[in-house]
Amino acid sequence: MNSKELREKFLRFFEGKGHKIVPSSSLIPTDPSVLFTTAGMQQFKSYYLAEKSPYGPNAATAQKCFRTSDIEEVGDDTHLTFLEMLGNFSFGGYFKEEAIKLAYEFLFKELKLSPHEAVFTVFEGDQNVSEDKESIEIWKKLGIKEDKIKKCGREDNFWGPTGEEGPCGPTTEIYFKNSEVWNLVFNEYYQDKNKKLTPLKQKGVDTGMGLERLALVVQNKNSVYETDLFLPIINEIPGENEKAKRIISDHVKSSVFLISEGILPSNVERGYVLRRVLRRAIRYGKLLNLAENFLIPLAQKVIEIYQDIYPEVKSQEADILTVIQNEEEKFEIIFEEGLNKLHDIISWWSEIQSAKVDEINKRTGELKSHYNDMEDAKELGDKLFLLEQSYGFPVDLSLEEFEEFWKERIILKEEVIKFINEARKKHQEISRAGAEKKFGGGGEFSPKLHTATHLLHAALRQVLGDHVKQMGSDITSQRLRFDFSHPQKMTAEEIKKVEDLVNEKIKEDLEVKKEEMKYEDALKSGALAFFKEKYPEKVSVYSAGNFSREICAGPHVKKTSELGNFKIIKEESSGAGVRRIRAVLR
Ligand code: ALA
Repeated sequence: MNSKELREKFLRFFEGKGHKIVPSSSLIPTDPSVLFTTAGMQQFKSYYLAEKSPYGPNAATAQKCFRTSDIEEVGDDTHLTFLEMLGNFSFGGYFKEEAIKLAYEFLFKELKLSPHEAVFTVFEGDQNVSEDKESIEIWKKLGIKEDKIKKCGREDNFWGPTGEEGPCGPTTEIYFKNSEVWNLVFNEYYQDKNKKLTPLKQKGVDTGMGLERLALVVQNKNSVYETDLFLPIINEIPGENEKAKRIISDHVKSSVFLISEGILPSNVERGYVLRRVLRRAIRYGKLLNLAENFLIPLAQKVIEIYQDIYPEVKSQEADILTVIQNEEEKFEIIFEEGLNKLHDIISWWSEIQSAKVDEINKRTGELKSHYNDMEDAKELGDKLFLLEQSYGFPVDLSLEEFEEFWKERIILKEEVIKFINEARKKHQEISRAGAEKKFGGGGEFSPKLHTATHLLHAALRQVLGDHVKQMGSDITSQRLRFDFSHPQKMTAEEIKKVEDLVNEKIKEDLEVKKEEMKYEDALKSGALAFFKEKYPEKVSVYSAGNFSREICAGPHVKKTSELGNFKIIKEESSGAGVRRIRAVLR
């Protein structure tokens, strides 16, 4: 059975059992305390509490999920960063008995898998929550032998909450081939910010089954990468290094889905996570000696596999490919140099390690294999952070290169990570202070070119149409560069029209005004915003007369006449469906 049929079978089965089929929610959750959607229940979180479910008491979904918690494991047979979670949910409807019976019926009657090949786990209990005897009894009543039911602790058989607080509870899980395939969570508690549990007024069920793992079992494979959800991608990657190929195929899939939601590579939050997975994929591509832009055909395969189920990957195809290509090119330029620097750091580290160990051994007469010096850990942390800042080498990638040093030295690794985080925090504080100063005084961050960029953007939309969307912008003291979505080359006439329109607006001497408002109000007022990425709650909106209005951090001039004369120097392609303009003020 292919994965499409499998997904469909799950949803139809639960529809037949009185569940409302609800579409997957976005990978960007509404809960501000979590970066990504990692579980199917997230969109229903409030229905386990006081809020009434608009879907009735029972629902089922196939939910897009993204998690980096297992990123180190990606490449084995079962771990992924992007996955689809099949789930059935009940908010005050059924509870343990019904949930377990439904799972049993779906797996062993509907899909005709063999219960003999499965293992079942239940919660063994701890000082706060008692052993889940009920689930054991229910499984036994269904004919599962006691020796197939294992009791496990909180780590394995207690789930939730997502974010800082929320519903959670003991679980019973179904394993095939030693990997967890289906997790049935019995939401009985509310965990608050202080980790205190209180019983929920209304009990609920939240289940999650990775479609990829289910496909592995049903299609009788040894790894998720051999299922039809991966084979078309992995078959495109030449080379012998199976693990690298798996990592690339997982990461390109995640990247496609993240970008399809409007996330762009950056150095913060979601954008940073995207940059990490993208660069990690590129890095492994280098290991396999893959050609430049090797991710593009792979991304196209991902789109092919998922376009019928998640049309956003198809409708955003041009953006997705452009973003991937741009990131690849950006990384390409600095990669070799960064790698050399990293190797320097590794040699430095291994030298000081052995030198200091020798010295200690000589001095004390003992035979130590390592020593603990926090100053060195700090220095390493600083160096790796700097490498990320200057060469875009994500620190976790660099840390991977140190794996042999971490063996048996987990504590030291954690110290280094702590110092990296400290360095990052310090850097953010400094750049924030710097930005404030810069925005106040003008400086190298030309407010004139910044205002010109807004005028250009508005002019492009007026001349070419509203499909024009900002895809990127870069301003130096000399020129502006603006990337925007537009399917074809601009004609000379269009370029002239845009240039003239900007100059006309400069001559009109429009007043540039700044207003502070809530993000939603800014959108309502017609201000342009480019990334679906999280904005702060309060944003600044800059407008130039009635001509342009954008959410932006500034800085800008006070009157457009300060700009002088605007000139487009170049119009060129910047990837599929994206054009790039360079312009100056003279
Ligand atoms: N919410 C549960 C999980 O993610 C089902 O495993």
